[in-house]
Amino acid sequence: MSDNITNQAAWQGGPGQELQLGSSDAPLPAANEVLIRNAAIAINPLDWLLQDYALLPWLSYPAILGSDVAGTIVAVGSSVERLKVGDRVLGQAVGTTVNEKAQGAFQNYTIVLEHMAAPIPDRMEFSDAAVLPLGLGTAAGGLYGEKMLALASPSHSPVAKDEVVLVWGGSSSVGANAIQLAVASGYTVITTASARNAEMLKSLGAIAVFDHASASIVQDVIEAMQGRRLAGTLHATGDIAASFAVVSQSEGVRLVATTLPPSADLPQGVEARHIAGTSLKDDAVGPMIYRDFLPQALEAGSFVPAPPAKVVGHGLEALQGALHVLKAGVSAAKVVVTVS
Ligand SMILES: NC(=O)c1ccc[n+]([C@@H]2O[C@H](COP(=O)([O-])OP(=O)(O)OC[C@H]3O[C@@H](n4cnc5c(N)ncnc54)[C@H](OP(=O)(O)O)[C@@H]3O)[C@@H](O)[C@H]2O)c1
Repeated sequence: MSDNITNQAAWQGGPGQELQLGSSDAPLPAANEVLIRNAAIAINPLDWLLQDYALLPWLSYPAILGSDVAGTIVAVGSSVERLKVGDRVLGQAVGTTVNEKAQGAFQNYTIVLEHMAAPIPDRMEFSDAAVLPLGLGTAAGGLYGEKMLALASPSHSPVAKDEVVLVWGGSSSVGANAIQLAVASGYTVITTASARNAEMLKSLGAIAVFDHASASIVQDVIEAMQGRRLAGTLHATGDIAASFAVVSQSEGVRLVATTLPPSADLPQGVEARHIAGTSLKDDAVGPMIYRDFLPQALEAGSFVPAPPAKVVGHGLEALQGALHVLKAGVSAAKVVVTVS
């Protein structure tokens, strides 16, 4: 236990139960870890899914759920040089993947791997920074993972490529991050979302936004692809059969990186691969994003927290209500709870 730290968590006692507040350990970070005093925690669909269902066979209960934190570093491991105590950071916590309670987000102090944390600008609110981690990590895993789309890395001075990245479900957390990353890699981005979110997605760099409620969505996107070449498709959310149909009729790479296992038959010539949003902890994509790209891009304002934070309460006791808000559904919003 770290000296002088009294930690509290919102515990998940088992699938189907509501969160319960209780004390938890705040261990000293291992060599390649940092300990963050959380100021804001964001909610992801995985959190309410894990609350309702025993999805991860390796996860022991009681568990501490949650992936997205922003706050201040209070301790660093012996080999951490890039980050120091007092730094304002965001972090992608991987507790449910590695079955480590100390690495869950739903508590006051969370352990995060050094290469899954990034400093944030002084001007940025913690509640805004917290919207990024798992959405960003999942988008990055899909776009850059060796076994995924393996696209060109994001850059602070992108060189334009004559290829399109199709992002299906651009107003979701994964989608909004995928749009910005693909733009930073120099690709042209075409996306889908509700019409009311089109301007926001254009402000993130998409050149065209098609209404996924339209009956002609498949035909509309196929037409937009005429004369263009696909570099790859990231299916963040929505009707996967529709994105497969577009890909099957487009030129270029017919590989779709999907956030959920594909629920529709694959058309001939189309391939789909399921993204693991925490793959960044083990591969080169983690440092590529959290060390080499994000800090400077946030500072420059060329990458922004999107979709915007919807702060629904304060304190760990607000997390249960926040899970209900996300489960009920959001449109271009990230549900956030502030904790300090
Ligand atoms: N594999 C992984 O590791 C991983 C990691 C993170 C997330 N995921 C999964 O990825 C998906 C997206 O997660 P997220 O956090 O990005 O979601 P999110 O932000 O909660 O998604 C909200 C968006 O979904 C869109 N949407 C809702 N219902 C829709 C429908 N029927 N058809 C089309 N779009 C619809 C809405 O778009 P409009 O309002 O514009 O209509 C809304 O903006 C989830 O299924 C999540 O479980 C997987």
